Order: sequence, then C-alpha cells, then structure tokens
Amino acid sequence: MLNESQIERLITISKEKPLLPEKFVPWHEEIGINQFYMPELLSSLNQTELYNKLTEFQKIELSRHEMAQVLYSYAWTEGLFCLFMNKIILDLKPDSVEYRFLLRELIEEFRHQDMFATAIQKINGKPISPSKIHNFFGKITAKYLPKSWVFISCLSIELITDVYGKYTRKDPNTYIVMRKVGELHHIEEGRHIVFAENWLKKYTEQAGFIKRSWFSILVLINIYYLQSLYVKKEIFKRIGVENPDIFFKAAKSNFKINFAKHCTSTTKEFVERINGFNWLTKPLWRSVLKMEI
Ligand SMILES: [Fe+2]
Ligand SMILES: [Fe+2]
Repeated sequence: MLNESQIERLITISKEKPLLPEKFVPWHEEIGINQFYMPELLSSLNQTELYNKLTEFQKIELSRHEMAQVLYSYAWTEGLFCLFMNKIILDLKPDSVEYRFLLRELIEEFRHQDMFATAIQKINGKPISPSKIHNFFGKITAKYLPKSWVFISCLSIELITDVYGKYTRKDPNTYIVMRKVGELHHIEEGRHIVFAENWLKKYTEQAGFIKRSWFSILVLINIYYLQSLYVKKEIFKRIGVENPDIFFKAAKSNFKINFAKHCTSTTKEFVERINGFNWLTKPLWRSVLKMEI
C-alpha cells in the first residue's frame, strides 16, 4: 500500500524547495575549452578503437549531437507521461495524497520539458525525431494501456534518466549547463521514482509468475525503446567521418555493452525487488540488453 506519510513529505519538499530551471541552470555560461556536452563515459563509441580515431573536435561534436538526442527523448517521453498523468488524475479525489503528488509531478515534468527544450536550443542541437513506429507505440501506451503497465514504463524511463543525470552532474569535463540540467533532473526524478514504486506495490506485491514476468519484460521493452532513440547514423555523417556506416554499427553494439555496464544497476535492483528475473525473462535480458543477470 501507498506509504502516505512518505508521499506527504515528498509533496512538502516539492513545494518548499522548488527547483526552477530558469534560476537553477546558469544558461548564460558557455562551454569551456576541451569540455564535452555529455560525459565521455556515456558516449556511444567510448572506449573503442574507432573513438580514438576521431579528432578532439569530432569527439566533442559527437557528444553535442548525442546529448541533443538524449534531451529530446526525455522531453518527448515526459510529454507522453504527462498525457497519461492528466488522464489518471481525473479518477482521483483532488484532496487525496496521490492526486496531490501527481499534480506536483506534472508541474515538475512540465518544467523539465521546458528545460530540455531550452537546453537543446542552447547547444544548437538538431535532434532526429522518433520514427513513426516510436510515435505509434508511445501514443498507444500513454492513451490506452492499463495504468500499471504505463506506470512500469514510466518508472523504467525515469530510472535511466536518473542515472544519466547522476553521471552528468558529477563529471567536471562536462559543460556546466548540462551538468546543472542533469543535477536538477536527478534530484526531482528521485522523488518520482519513490512515488512510482510505492504506487506500483499494489500491483507488484501480489503478482504471480506471469504478471511478474510481464512487468519484467515491460521494463526491458522500455529500455530497448529508449536506447533506440539515442544512437543514430545521421550523427556520424554530421561529424564528418569517412565511413559513417562502420562507425554507426560499432557505436550501436558498443553502446549496448556500455549501457548495460554503467546505466542499469538501479533498474536491475528494481526488477529484483519485484521478483522479475526468472527462467523465462533472464535469457531475454541477457540477449536483448546484454546485461549480466
Ligand atoms: Fe523529468
Ligand atoms: Fe519524472
């Protein structure tokens, strides 16, 4: 059941310590010499032979384009989440703790989208839009799927965005504007994750084998979906490498391995908490996301 006193505390923090992107992020600051737009650790090509063949300028440009991709994916998926939250608060009482928390979350998520859009502008990003298939599944999920499925999907995305925010805020070689964007997001997503896990308990605590397996697969699908928005062939054309196809292929497979290694620990802990790893799901996690389960 929902831990009401804990959620009340989160509502109070959200009200008493609001983080406004306009004030929190030093938008006037420019990138420093030899700084990156995102931590090199998160770069799709990081630690490959091909990465070492890039010039310093190309490495920085790669980080700019990939950061634009990440920012765009967050803005877009959070927009879908807001659509869903707006729909579910219609069935709640306005004085209930769930309703009041979701209102705070909506306020924060709208601010995040505004922040991401401003950040894309600031780095002069030209993000590549999600495909028609992405659009189709994104909208179907937000509009028609059962609440618990959508909440699981949102939580999966939040767990990943939270890890990206954590890495970005801590990396001294990353542009200060991106670091502060990451910091704000990391702080506020932490609260959303606590609420989402609490809210999901009514579905996950009593879940049998099939439901647990399905929830586990849903998390996996969402991570796969998010990953597919990040690495794009067009980016390698833009940074002027001789053979974009080869770079793109290497980036795609390297990114999966890197991502599994550095970005999935909290997701793995969540799936473990809901008992989502079993003989049916483990092979999928290993083969699709290259994770060690
Ligand atoms: Fe957010
Ligand atoms: Fe969130």
